[in-house]
Amino acid sequence: MTRVELQRVSILGTGKMGSAVGLALAAAGLDITYGSRTPETTSKKFSEFRNVTVTDIIGACRAGGPVIVAVPWSATLDLMRQVGSELADRTIIDMTNPTSPDWSYLTTDGRRSGAEQIAETLASSRVVKMFNGIIADNFSNPGFSGEQVQAFFCGGV
Ligand SMILES: NC(=O)c1ccc[n+]([C@@H]2O[C@H](COP(=O)([O-])OP(=O)(O)OC[C@H]3O[C@@H](n4cnc5c(N)ncnc54)[C@H](OP(=O)(O)O)[C@@H]3O)[C@@H](O)[C@H]2O)c1
Repeated sequence: MTRVELQRVSILGTGKMGSAVGLALAAAGLDITYGSRTPETTSKKFSEFRNVTVTDIIGACRAGGPVIVAVPWSATLDLMRQVGSELADRTIIDMTNPTSPDWSYLTTDGRRSGAEQIAETLASSRVVKMFNGIIADNFSNPGFSGEQVQAFFCGGV
């Protein structure tokens, strides 16, 4: 197994999950670069964290380190096509759940998972599925009815 020393992580999307994961990683000492559609307004949300930067989506892709995809599934494949050339040879951490906006049904066809579709779109990247089985609130409260939350991942870096 390869040991990877992490200092920097980029996160595309500044919503509930992106914020929760990014601030947990920032608290652990990593430098976080968020990619946002509206960095000027979004950066205010993170202004008290000295190791958190907010820039545009391309800027975050170019910041280095693994890139966490934390946008709605409905936007994910288009976004991956837009930034794919920036992400060649990079590790992509996919936390999306390919559901309808109200989470009531899966929008995949039952054959290819969301992560497989991302991996097809980003053929030169390494895609790892991670964080999608836990909810944003678990980052500040890692328990379900008194049981420790387990977080699974699938893929290799
Ligand atoms: N919420 C959870 O507990 C949870 C748990 C497991 C997995 N997930 C998955 O994590 C992902 C994010 O969920 P969330 O709850 O954090 O969603 P959210 O609160 O709606 O945040 C999504 C963020 O993505 C960015 N975004 C939205 N539309 C976009 C577009 N068209 N193109 C590019 N960026 C866009 C926005 O950031 P900017 O405005 O800064 O661009 C937005 O704040 C989803 O795929 C979801 O299935 C969520």
